[in-house]
Amino acid sequence: MNKIEQTLSIIKPDAVERNLTENIKNMFEKNNLVIKDQKKIHITKDEAADFYKVHQSKPFYNDLCNYLSSGPIVVMILEGENAISENRKLMGATDPKKADKNTIRKTYGISIDKNSVHGSDSIENAEKEIKFFFKD
Ligand code: CMP
Repeated sequence: MNKIEQTLSIIKPDAVERNLTENIKNMFEKNNLVIKDQKKIHITKDEAADFYKVHQSKPFYNDLCNYLSSGPIVVMILEGENAISENRKLMGATDPKKADKNTIRKTYGISIDKNSVHGSDSIENAEKEIKFFFKD
């Protein structure tokens, strides 16, 4: 069933640093994901820890929080039909080495940590993550 959804996307420090923001935004738009709101921010490690708290028991949590707070990121609200799953398809597998051709992570990702983009994985998390960055 097709329904209009919103999802949160983050262009991570590795991609912002390599000036890939416009290329990645173009990939969203070509895939019918409309950017409804966006901002470039640099979050603290505490904010990253709060954002990623669902991963707090994972061995990679500390590195993940250091990484997301290591430089500017672009956070966006994407909207479209089945936006959550469409964005995840477009991003590709978490590990760029395992991602399909033409996905964002296959095209631009460097490693499982520096995988260029984050996207919400469920309706519930999309709502939470959008609220986290766009409170108003
Ligand atoms: P993201 O979609 O932002 O969600 C959590 C992030 O943890 C993930 O992308 C990866 O960049 C990072 N990560 C680091 N190591 C792992 C791992 N072993 N499994 C899953 N995610 C990992």
